Amino acid sequence: MVKAVIFDAFGTLFNLDNSLLSNIDHPKVNDILDYTRQKQLSYTWLHSLMDTYIPFDEITQTALTDALSKHEAPSSLMESFASLYFKPVIFDDVLASLETLQSRSLQIGILSNGTHKMLQAGIVHNQMSSLIQHVFSADDVSIFKPSPKVYQMVVTALDVNPDEILFVSSNQWDVAGASAFGFQVAWVNRSNGFRESITQSERVTVIQSLLEIAAIV
Ligand code: LAC
Repeated sequence: MVKAVIFDAFGTLFNLDNSLLSNIDHPKVNDILDYTRQKQLSYTWLHSLMDTYIPFDEITQTALTDALSKHEAPSSLMESFASLYFKPVIFDDVLASLETLQSRSLQIGILSNGTHKMLQAGIVHNQMSSLIQHVFSADDVSIFKPSPKVYQMVVTALDVNPDEILFVSSNQWDVAGASAFGFQVAWVNRSNGFRESITQSERVTVIQSLLEIAAIV
């Protein structure tokens, strides 16, 4: 039985491919964002493997700096790109989904690589404070997902078994990590993307919208 629904943040609740991008005047805007996301992710994994730690806001700045420099874009664009992470916009299905889960008395939380500062900025910016009871940041254990130490924070804080958590993420690496840890997992595949073999597990359910969560808890 699911006692709490815990969401990944960036790409799952917060939409990184949003209208803010259309305000950025540069021909390589999508390539810059793609490269930033790739580097941001690989830098988190490198730090975890190297046994070093740098908070996600700094990793994001470094990845953005590298992406702008690789694509010979002016550093004056930094602020516009950074606002995707520091003033994020939510997907259309988020509020209705969270309201339904709240009306079912389920606990709701976020578990993210993002720092508390980044996550709170997103929560406040999108007026979600009354819908989110728990915010877990990898920053509290100084290592990134998919380290089991990060998923363990939820189990310890809520005093539940891993299979009493439904974890929701759009990121397949995160789906793999969370299901290996023992969570029930919903992979939200909004764009009908290819399913990687790493997510194949009896604990993983595929959904296309967060509105489908209510039917699986
Ligand atoms: C998160 C990102 C990286 O943990 O998806 O919120």
